Amino acid sequence: MTEQLIPAAGSDRLPRETDRMLRRRAAAVIPGGMYGHQSAGPLPLEYPQFMRSGRGARIWDVDGTEYVDLMCSYGPIVLGHQHPGVEAAVRAQAGLADCQNGPGEVMVELAELLVATVQHADWAMFAKNGTDATTICCTIARAHSGRSKILVATGAYHGAAPWCTPRLAGVTSADRVNLGHYAFNDLASVTAAAAEAGPDLAAIVVSPFKHDAGYDQELVDPAFARGLRELCDETGAALILDDVRCGFRLHLGSSWEPIGVLPDLSAWSKAIANGHPLAAVLGSGRFRDAAASIFVTGSFWFSATAMAGAIATIGALREEGAIETMDRAGTALRAGIVEQANARGLSINYTGPAAMPYLTFAGDRDHELGGVFAAAAIRAGLYLHPRHNWFISAAMTDADLAKALAATDEAFAAVQARLEGGNT
Ligand SMILES: Cc1ncc(COP(=O)(O)O)c(C=O)c1O
Repeated sequence: MTEQLIPAAGSDRLPRETDRMLRRRAAAVIPGGMYGHQSAGPLPLEYPQFMRSGRGARIWDVDGTEYVDLMCSYGPIVLGHQHPGVEAAVRAQAGLADCQNGPGEVMVELAELLVATVQHADWAMFAKNGTDATTICCTIARAHSGRSKILVATGAYHGAAPWCTPRLAGVTSADRVNLGHYAFNDLASVTAAAAEAGPDLAAIVVSPFKHDAGYDQELVDPAFARGLRELCDETGAALILDDVRCGFRLHLGSSWEPIGVLPDLSAWSKAIANGHPLAAVLGSGRFRDAAASIFVTGSFWFSATAMAGAIATIGALREEGAIETMDRAGTALRAGIVEQANARGLSINYTGPAAMPYLTFAGDRDHELGGVFAAAAIRAGLYLHPRHNWFISAAMTDADLAKALAATDEAFAAVQARLEGGNT
């Protein structure tokens, strides 16, 4: 990965001096030069690794190049970068204190706000990352039932802990022994996996829709969601909704509220504090005692600034009609992109909710055309991803949208040229 991260000297596709220099320094002191989902290694060479700043729906890399942001930091930015109300709330709390001997009063205020905002929630706990939240949900489900087995959808991402990381290096079979699998939207496969787990089934974990990286997205079939709810009620297993990626992007409540399916436990992070580090576990009253019985904690889990940021974020989401704005901007982006592809006779799959779309090219199994598209888009000033769903923030203006669509048009032209055998 290190070699991948350092473009060949003199590459005319990478004019960014500072980025190149930072990659070289990072390669010496950071394993692999960079790791995790933000590694630019697997991305086309044109992508910067290091970023400097952001405002609204625009971001700048360390060399000062500006982009319209369609990744939103992989989900945390929901109101736009540097939202004034959120940043003011964080600064005000930071002026008092952040990390103390006990939580600030914002912890209680935020728990009350979440309980008032999310239908299934009677209580809230906090942590830092989405992985913390999904893992805590499983621990609570096990403490509640005294059972062990957890079912997840094949290919779904629930975090980077040994029980759920997609890469098996360093993971033991014991870490996975209590994990079973089903296929998303396939109730028969869940029923079969539940039967195999038998009386040891503690929980079924599910994401609001199928958003596995690199694949066309699939919205949930409401009958599947209802079926999961019934299966959990019949078996006594907990229904855990992993709302880490979708939470507060699709609905101001848990993401299955619009289809009338309420989980027992839900995991949150990413957008909850508009980029400030926070995760939450929300649960129904039935799981309150189990939640109180487990020991989970972290040195920074009770920091007050991110909680103040979350209160301001949730307030702004409501007051500014952010969910509707993201849906409107996403719908306009989809219409523009589909029209551009049709005009060029390119066959695309544009999948997922309007505010969290993903684009692939028909038959492009190795994402080769996706890479050509992304490389041309970033050259034209649009930051999207060839193998991960995109995120649209509520800060997207008509000017941002116009710039994004001008870039996607150039990107489609590059794909067309590649298909016709020309240079891109
Ligand atoms: C659905 C889902 N669950 C859990 C996680 C893990 O969150 P984190 O990276 O904050 O640990 C992610 C992160 O992308 C996610 O998308």
